[in-house]
Amino acid sequence: MTEPKEASLSDHLWRPLTQHQTLRGVVPKRMVSAKGCHLKDEEGRQYLDAIAGLWCVNIGYGREELADVARQQMKDLNFLAPMFTNGPVVDFAEKLQKLLGFDCHVYFSSSGSEANETAFKIARQYHLQSGAHGERRFKIISRYRAYHGNTMGSMAATGQAERKIGYEPGPAGFIHVMPPYPYRAHPKLTLEDHGEECARLLEETIIHEGAETVAAFIMEPLLSGGGVLVPPDNYIPLVREICDRYGVLLIFDEVVSGFGRLGTMFGYEHWRTEADIYTFAKGLASGYLPVAATVAKEFVFEKFYGSPESQRHFRQVNTYGGHPVASAVALKAIQIVEDEALADNAAQVGNYLRQQLADALAEHPYVGEVRGKGMIMGVELVEDRESKAPLNDATVMKIVNGCVQNGVMLGRNNNTIPGRCNVLLIAPPLVLTREEAEQIVTVVVAAMNAVL
Ligand SMILES: Cc1ncc(COP(=O)(O)O)c(C=O)c1O
Repeated sequence: MTEPKEASLSDHLWRPLTQHQTLRGVVPKRMVSAKGCHLKDEEGRQYLDAIAGLWCVNIGYGREELADVARQQMKDLNFLAPMFTNGPVVDFAEKLQKLLGFDCHVYFSSSGSEANETAFKIARQYHLQSGAHGERRFKIISRYRAYHGNTMGSMAATGQAERKIGYEPGPAGFIHVMPPYPYRAHPKLTLEDHGEECARLLEETIIHEGAETVAAFIMEPLLSGGGVLVPPDNYIPLVREICDRYGVLLIFDEVVSGFGRLGTMFGYEHWRTEADIYTFAKGLASGYLPVAATVAKEFVFEKFYGSPESQRHFRQVNTYGGHPVASAVALKAIQIVEDEALADNAAQVGNYLRQQLADALAEHPYVGEVRGKGMIMGVELVEDRESKAPLNDATVMKIVNGCVQNGVMLGRNNNTIPGRCNVLLIAPPLVLTREEAEQIVTVVVAAMNAVL
């Protein structure tokens, strides 16, 4: 029998990733304002947001310049159907092309899920229009632990079993391979061997699926939401070689890593390896408005070029893709990332924070590893360092809640892999100062010591 609905349930909002039973009798506090890295609730309590919203508020909260730009653009032209041309969206596409430095075309949408969904459709249609038997190349390979979104295609590409419970079967043709996971690699393997082994697994998967059936391989340069997995240096260049060898398009999901998060403007710069298609969202407009982009290199775009009768064009429209206000705001947000050298700050303060955390937690029995790059880090929690068994859920949640109670909001890889949601996620706004970094360390260490 289903339990009666709690009459006192405070509102009608259906919250994501939330079991509403845990809210019985609770009136969740409303957040009312924010500035820099700090949120304030209705009672005036301040929280340091060490997860930048959902790793998206890269330039920090409360930037009035963005409100000014939005206000002006709303007055000038608040909406235009995306088949027509507005000024900000043309400038926005041009800006992305300049930053990326290669010839490309940009398709806009409003969320990371849509951007990835779009990339899969582009990849399939590209092959269909590229020559003999292209219609057979429909499979998308992605990696276990990675999150790529919540729509049917991007959820199918997601390699997290818990995000799919109740929603499968998904669309056909989505295959997964294991990502590099140095902390849990075979102890006899060097980092390089592990990178090579994981790349080889991708190659074997392509061969066993039949290379002529594989359209694309999608990966985040640094796997974020699934537990902050930093690949060995040789992995991504090897993946590039393998994709080239088998005619498979390489898609970089830079939804999290784009726009400064890893201490470089784009995540892939660390590995000096380019993809064929890129997806961006979160940091693109720093969470001020929902904006996403799918960028295809020119050789991909060219396959969509032809007479109207050829039906080669991309047959998709997103009502809010290339929205003039969102485009204007995103341009301003990117300008701030550049003008204030926020990628550099992410590298410097991020490395400082990671080092401080690693030092302060070096002897803590529940800490397996502190890892990351730039302003994104994960703290993998284990029952003991010997067995590396993932720390139980209840204790992980006590630590997360302990941090929030002490004024620091952070995340964990929630609802991802059964029994393996044991990584604390820290990814503050890129404007974080050293003092704020120290506050995060103090609060995390206190919460960790409280569960001993
Ligand atoms: C790497 C990655 N790709 C795609 C998405 C989906 O983005 P959205 O929630 O905007 O649909 C996310 C969201 O967290 C993500 O982390």
